[in-house]
Amino acid sequence: MEKVLDYLKQNQQRFLAEFCDYLRFASVSAQPAHKNDLHACAAWLVAHCQAIGLEAKLCATAGHPIVIAKTPRAKNSQQPHYMVYGHYDVQPPEPLELWKSPPFEPRIVGNTIYARGSMDNKGQHLAHLKAVEAYLKTGTALPCDLTFVIEGEEEIGSESLSGFLKKNRRELNCQAVVISDTGMPSPKHPALGYSLRGIMALEITLHGPARDLHSGGFGGAVDNPAMAMSQLLAQLRDQHGRITIPGFYDGVAPLTAYERKEYARLPGTDAGLKKMIGVKNLFGERGFSSSEQRSARPTFEINGLTSGYQGEGSKTIIPSWARAKITCRLVPNQKPEAVRKAVVAHLKRICPPTMRLEIAAGHGAEAYFVPPTGPQAQAALRALEKAFGRKPILMREGGSIPIVNQFKKILGADSLLLGLGLPDDNAHSPNEKFSLECFEKGQRMAAFLWQELSR
Ligand code: BES
Ligand code: ZN
Repeated sequence: MEKVLDYLKQNQQRFLAEFCDYLRFASVSAQPAHKNDLHACAAWLVAHCQAIGLEAKLCATAGHPIVIAKTPRAKNSQQPHYMVYGHYDVQPPEPLELWKSPPFEPRIVGNTIYARGSMDNKGQHLAHLKAVEAYLKTGTALPCDLTFVIEGEEEIGSESLSGFLKKNRRELNCQAVVISDTGMPSPKHPALGYSLRGIMALEITLHGPARDLHSGGFGGAVDNPAMAMSQLLAQLRDQHGRITIPGFYDGVAPLTAYERKEYARLPGTDAGLKKMIGVKNLFGERGFSSSEQRSARPTFEINGLTSGYQGEGSKTIIPSWARAKITCRLVPNQKPEAVRKAVVAHLKRICPPTMRLEIAAGHGAEAYFVPPTGPQAQAALRALEKAFGRKPILMREGGSIPIVNQFKKILGADSLLLGLGLPDDNAHSPNEKFSLECFEKGQRMAAFLWQELSR
């Protein structure tokens, strides 16, 4: 291990330059205009994997390509096999004017790197690649075989990957999937995640008049789609933060006393949270702490709300339509399609007769929950402790990684969530960043992990 750790230490400057090259690709999966950038980014990644000694290829899909990279292995290798999963696609960078430097021109300030995708997720899986590079370049034998699966559609629901898993089930069969795409409360509190929330996405459009109307000429006699949308959405949550859609909470598992005690031990305060995100007050479902609300309870969120004139100055119209982009976060025992049905049925029930309701279904994924008690989780905890020098904590994550349940269903493999992000890394926000301390310790953690898992 000395040689591996030394190699990592000696090469941080070069790693950083390579990290910057990777971040310069505007691999925004949600925006069709960036299709070529995703392809170029994947091609760069394949070349990079090859340069560090992996056998890598680019696999075309109906959507964005998947990168597969394997450690060289014996023909009939008896070694355990693990998958490392990550994604090279990123969230849209808008609003651009809020970035202190352009999102795809990485900027290093002190021990932090700023760029879209730095934490979510390029930096996190690059840390794993660098750990493997250290093994391969120092001639240190890996105690297991590894396959990296780095996809380009995680941020839009991982649609192509599940077909790919089914097709390549034999080749991808593995003991466990290692994923660094979540977070930890601070470098003093490294964490092993054991749950993710699921998700259900949809878009609601209310259609009113056939075209925008003069609001003086027609206002008063015609319903306004923006107002109708506001009233429709406002009915979906009560003043105690509970979602009012019948059936929405069906099956939701209550938190056990044990879990609530664990939650109470998490570091951080509500005051700190308020300050970090810049709100006057927090708001959430009554009866639950903010950490419980953020990872163990389902939500209904408006991600985008559009209607009428958005340009400068005033324009006196009654807009022809209004649209809301919605995602619900789901918890164990909730089925995305059942929640979708409940939401759609309720919207149909309460839609005013003045509007035509159109609902477009989006992606969906179940929550993930695996108790962190097995030997793999113990190995992961040891690797975290060795790299970060602190006892790791166990936590449930609020975000979603849609493919993890497919790993379980198709490959029979659990996922180890070894997040390297920090709560203030601005994932999905302007000025996304990644701590270089987490990058470096993440590489060490990844290096220790293969030893610990194979012990
Ligand atoms: N890295 C996140 C997942 C995440 C974030 C887990 C924070 C835990 C805490 C991932 O890239 C992500 O953002 N996933 C999307 C999936 C969705 C678009 C289907 C998400 O959670 O919104
Ligand atoms: Zn993300």
